[in-house]
Amino acid sequence: MQRFFRPLAGLFIMLFIGLARWKWEVISITYLYISPVQNELPETAETIQHIHNSSHLVVSAFKDHRRGGAIRVIGILRRSAFKKLYCVLCVQADARTDGDEGCSQRVSSEAVVEIHSDHFGFPYGTSDILCNSPSSFKPTHVAISVDPSTVQTQSLLRYLPIQNQETKDSFKYNFTVCISSLFGEYNNALQFVQTMEVYKLIGIQRVVIYNTSSGPHLEKLLKYYSKEGMLEVVPWPIDKFLKPSHGWQPKISPGDLHYYGQLTTLNECIYRYMYQSQYLLLNDMDEIIMPYKHASLGDLMDTLQRQHHDAGVFIVENPIFPKTQFDDSGRFSRREWQNVPGINILEHIYREPDREGVFKPTKLIINPRSVEQTSVHSVLKHFGPSIDVQFDVCHIIHVRVPLQRSLHKNQLHVDKKLWEFEKRLIPNIDRAIDESGLLL
Ligand SMILES: *[C@@H]1O[C@H](CO)[C@@H](O)[C@H](O)[C@H]1NC(C)=O
Ligand SMILES: *[C@@H]1O[C@H](CO)[C@@H](O)[C@H](O)[C@H]1NC(C)=O
Ligand SMILES: *[C@@H]1O[C@H](CO)[C@@H](O)[C@H](O)[C@H]1NC(C)=O
Repeated sequence: MQRFFRPLAGLFIMLFIGLARWKWEVISITYLYISPVQNELPETAETIQHIHNSSHLVVSAFKDHRRGGAIRVIGILRRSAFKKLYCVLCVQADARTDGDEGCSQRVSSEAVVEIHSDHFGFPYGTSDILCNSPSSFKPTHVAISVDPSTVQTQSLLRYLPIQNQETKDSFKYNFTVCISSLFGEYNNALQFVQTMEVYKLIGIQRVVIYNTSSGPHLEKLLKYYSKEGMLEVVPWPIDKFLKPSHGWQPKISPGDLHYYGQLTTLNECIYRYMYQSQYLLLNDMDEIIMPYKHASLGDLMDTLQRQHHDAGVFIVENPIFPKTQFDDSGRFSRREWQNVPGINILEHIYREPDREGVFKPTKLIINPRSVEQTSVHSVLKHFGPSIDVQFDVCHIIHVRVPLQRSLHKNQLHVDKKLWEFEKRLIPNIDRAIDESGLLL
């Protein structure tokens, strides 16, 4: 009996999908094959994997409710080698099992691929691989293939679970920071612990870090904050797959992919937290998006959203606080922190002025549900207006090497905003240093 019904069911689905296809405006696809078969469903917990028999990589898959429920697979494609890709959507037989049950139904189609416009000329680029999923078909997993006759290579397909199956309108977190890339022997522990504790005081509840590698002291803090609950560390072993560039210019920092895949991780973070966080802050780990006129980011965003109801993108200026200029009073040059490697941000209260005609770097506060594709300083595709936040209302505190090296103290602005947090901040930093075992 079963042998009889399954192909029938397949035919039925095909008819239905054929109908649904008519109405499909965003993505037009060609159905190649529908197979109601039961097979092994190899699934993997790796963050990055190869598309079989190709130089392309895929990262994760999400249902995009804003695009008719299309399945969006975030990938890293070799731009020159790119031809066609195919989606295999799969309904797992039993949602309660973890994948061993295999697909009860499978639909293959040609994918619509969007290579993001920001790739800075590197051979690989962040890409969206979009797979049509008609509303009647509720795929739980997806695999991407370079082979149109995916039937023959079924056993080689690697399935990604499809996340964001349901929309939500209340969120676990109000503010989440996405930190795109941690690599090398980065061991700036003091700046990191101080920054995390400032984040808490301005209303951030979650921080996500894509971790390729780090230095020993920072590693202790990553473990501490993960255990304590504020931090999610996403493994990001991009260096096992490609030769990542350390910078953004292929000529100066050669490699396969821009800055350790920063653009991929930022986009991944948007979809990962789309229904977990009201807002996302897309900034680096040495940056603090600071409200200057409000007590917290919550108050700031309440005000901004009252002024701009449907805006979902807020652009914040990113001035430099040179780590070479110290506060003369020595007020925060504390003995307790002397053995912690890294920058003491409380000592750097001088801010570089704007330069006429020079590009002002910016970072972003976004409502992730308003954004489809992002770059580092601006979004690439989004819904609704994008707002430039006034400098005196909010800007970034970014302590690092100076950009305008020749300036003297009296040519810089004094900005002691961080000092306002002293009373709660200092004991919190001390506690984190102590409890993380940083100095043991
Ligand atoms: C891999 O690709 C090559 C050529 O592109 C093809 O000849 C070969 O059959 C493919 N192998 C598998 C297992 O799909
Ligand atoms: C998130 O924001 C809401 C509304 O402003 C507030 O009531 C709530 O306490 C905040 N949640 C957290 C965890 O801070
Ligand atoms: C970060 O990645 C490195 C390299 O894979 C690993 O050794 C380290 O344990 C990771 N750190 C955390 C906190 O996951």
